[in-house]
Amino acid sequence: MKTDTAYYVFDLGRVRERVAYLRRLLGTEVSLAYAVKANTFIIEGMIPYVERLEVCSPGEAAICERLGVPPEKMVISGVYKTPSFIERSVISAPGRIYTVESLTQFDLLRALSEKYQKRLPVLLRLTNDSQFGINEEDIRSIIADRAEYPYLNILGIQFFSGTQKTSLKKLAREIRHLDELLVSLEEEYGYRAEELEYGTGFPVSYYDGESLDEEALITGFREVLQGMTRRPKITLELGRSIAACCGKYYTHVVDKKRNKGQNYLLVDGGMHQLVYFGQYMGMKHPILSVCGKETEPSTDSWNICGSLCSMNDILAKQVPLPEIHIGDTLCFENAGAYCMTEGMALFLSREIPAVYLVTEDGKHVLVRRPFETADLNTPREEYSER
Ligand SMILES: Cc1ncc(COP(=O)(O)O)c(C=O)c1O
Repeated sequence: MKTDTAYYVFDLGRVRERVAYLRRLLGTEVSLAYAVKANTFIIEGMIPYVERLEVCSPGEAAICERLGVPPEKMVISGVYKTPSFIERSVISAPGRIYTVESLTQFDLLRALSEKYQKRLPVLLRLTNDSQFGINEEDIRSIIADRAEYPYLNILGIQFFSGTQKTSLKKLAREIRHLDELLVSLEEEYGYRAEELEYGTGFPVSYYDGESLDEEALITGFREVLQGMTRRPKITLELGRSIAACCGKYYTHVVDKKRNKGQNYLLVDGGMHQLVYFGQYMGMKHPILSVCGKETEPSTDSWNICGSLCSMNDILAKQVPLPEIHIGDTLCFENAGAYCMTEGMALFLSREIPAVYLVTEDGKHVLVRRPFETADLNTPREEYSER
C-alpha cells in the first residue's frame, strides 16, 4: 500500500491463528474473554472465536453493539459505569454481564434489577489493592446477604491484577488465593461460584533481544488451573496477548540529518500514534524493518524521531538500519494492542492515521480514513451560550 501518511494494518487471520494457539495451550476447559480496549478494530473478527468480550466504557459498548456483539457475550466492566449508561443497558440489552467494582455500583445494579424486574448476571470484582474492585470482606457480606437480592445472579468472582506478567509464580500465587476465597465462600456461606473470570495479563515481547518462553508459561499456568480445589467455569480476560501480534504500524521517512555526530531519521508518525508498553524516550528497540529492505545488511545506526514538536518524540534510539532514504517506509511489528490508542492523539493537532484490516482472504480494506484533528482543537463560539 502506498499512502502519504502513517497507518496501521491489523490482520484478522493472524488474530484467529493466535486465539487457536492460545486455546491449544490452555485446553478446552478454559474460556476466553477478549478485552476490547486492546483493539476495537478486530472485534467483529473475534466474535466467533471467543466466548466473551470485556467492555469498559460506554464508547466500547456502542462499538460492540454496532458490530453485532450479542449482549450475552459482553462483560460490562470498568471502574466507573455511568449510571445512565447502565440503566439503558439494563433496559435494552438483557443478558449483559456486569462487574461490581464498588458498593455504589452494587447498589445501582441492585436497584435497577429490582426497578425493571430483570435478573442481572454479575461478577464481583476483587480488588488488586488499587482503585479497582471491592474488598474481600465486601464480597463476603454480599454473598452472605444474597437472598436479599433476588434479581442479581451472582455468577462468581472477577480479578485482574495487572498486565505483562511473566512470572508463573505470581500467577500461581494469585490463583491459589482466588481458589482459597472460592472454597471459603462455599464453606462459610454455602455459595458455590459458577465462574471465575481472571485477567491473566499474559505478556507480549515487544523489543529486540527479549526472550520469553511463552509456551512454558502458558502450559505451566494451565497446570496451575488444573490444581485448583474448586473448578468453576474459568474465563481468561486477554487483551494484548491476543491482539498485539496482529498489528503493524507503517510510517514514512520524511527527513534525515546528522546533528552533532548523531544520525536522525524523521518519520511522519510518532509517539502520539505508537506507544509500546515499557517504552520510554525510545530507549528500547521495538521490532521493526525497512519495507523492501528486510534482508539488506545494516550500514548505520539511527535515532528514529516522530513529527511532534517535542524532544520526547523518539520511537527508538540507535537502531541499526540498512541504507535508508527519504520516502522509505518503516514497519513496526506487534502494534496490534493499545499501541494506537494510548498515544496523545490530539497533541500538536496532527492527523489520526488510517486503519486497514487484512481480511481472511488477504484483502486490505480501509476501515478508518485518516482524519484531521485541527477541528477538535479549534475554539468555536457557536457552542457558547453567550
Ligand atoms: C479488567 C481487565 N481485564 C483484562 C485486561 C487486559 O489486559 P492485557 O491486555 O494485559 O491482557 C485489562 C487491561 O487493562 C483489564 O483492565
